[in-house]
Amino acid sequence: MTGQEFLQAAAHLRDEAERRIPGAATLAELEAERIYFLGRTSGRLRDLMEVLPTLQPADRREAGKAANETRVFIEARLDAVRAALTPRQGAGPLDLTMPGRTVWRGARHPVTVVIDEIADIFREIGFTIALGPEVESEWYNFSALNFPADHPALDMHDTLYLESGAVLRTHTSPVQIRTLQRYVPPIRVLVPGNVYRRDFFDASHAPMFAQIEGLAIDEGVSFVDLKATLSHFARRFFGAAKTRFRPSFFPFTEPSAEMDVECQICHGAGCRTCKGTGWVEIMGCGMVHPAVIEASGLDAERFTGWAFGMGPARVAQQRFDIPDIRVLYDADVRVLGALAP
Ligand code: PHE
Repeated sequence: MTGQEFLQAAAHLRDEAERRIPGAATLAELEAERIYFLGRTSGRLRDLMEVLPTLQPADRREAGKAANETRVFIEARLDAVRAALTPRQGAGPLDLTMPGRTVWRGARHPVTVVIDEIADIFREIGFTIALGPEVESEWYNFSALNFPADHPALDMHDTLYLESGAVLRTHTSPVQIRTLQRYVPPIRVLVPGNVYRRDFFDASHAPMFAQIEGLAIDEGVSFVDLKATLSHFARRFFGAAKTRFRPSFFPFTEPSAEMDVECQICHGAGCRTCKGTGWVEIMGCGMVHPAVIEASGLDAERFTGWAFGMGPARVAQQRFDIPDIRVLYDADVRVLGALAP
């Protein structure tokens, strides 16, 4: 064999290793390949090495180097395939059928849970969701809702006035006007959204809170419809809990009422949450004032209707037995996670 032929033989051996070794499907097959190429007594590399001493002395140096590189090359191929075939330590063979670890995806906020459930109940009886802006004009928030400019009811609706007379809406009632301007009766809408008032943060008040407005307008709608619908809602939402309507006042409804539900925490016996009365106020309601219908551009002689405004945080407080409303704002996942159904 000439030195040149030796170098070619070494190159062929590397090609052969490159072709054969990745074909090993098990560690046993891989070991057979190792013996075939690198076996001490009859391996292919060993056969080649035996030729070395027969070469011209001038060619031996280069040939020895090529033989050595070929060994390193084959060992590297064997190592790579061995790593791929070896089960990972401690994990056993890779089981692709094992279910993945469940990831904490969070939960809906208790107030969101309540809003969704209320929306479901009203959706069943023909109500559609409507939304309106949180930055509102004084006209929509107050004037169109029949608040005279100096009316004492405004005191309860103290809020942030922005530039150019815009306000952070103090209730979702302005969406009544927006809806009446936009759609033709019969109208049945439910309006969830955040509202803002100059209230202190305490166990039962917050300066920003969610409301749900309801509005039903058609020809011939009466107070009977209001009571029947809201009683239906209370039965569906609170089970068989008792309700009562108390006379109240809002500039945009006449007559007006507050609807109370028997306290779900003490079942009427009187506790801290219901301040000992056994009842919890969950919404204001009433027949939409003719001035509101007129302000929206509709004929108040022809159309009548009713509206309500509910505080879902109060409702969530009852539903989940929450003594202090502030936990709903704390974003403490330990509390919110425990409340989430
Ligand atoms: N907007 C009133 C409030 O925020 C609630 C209400 C809505 C009362 C609709 C009657 C009718 O207090």
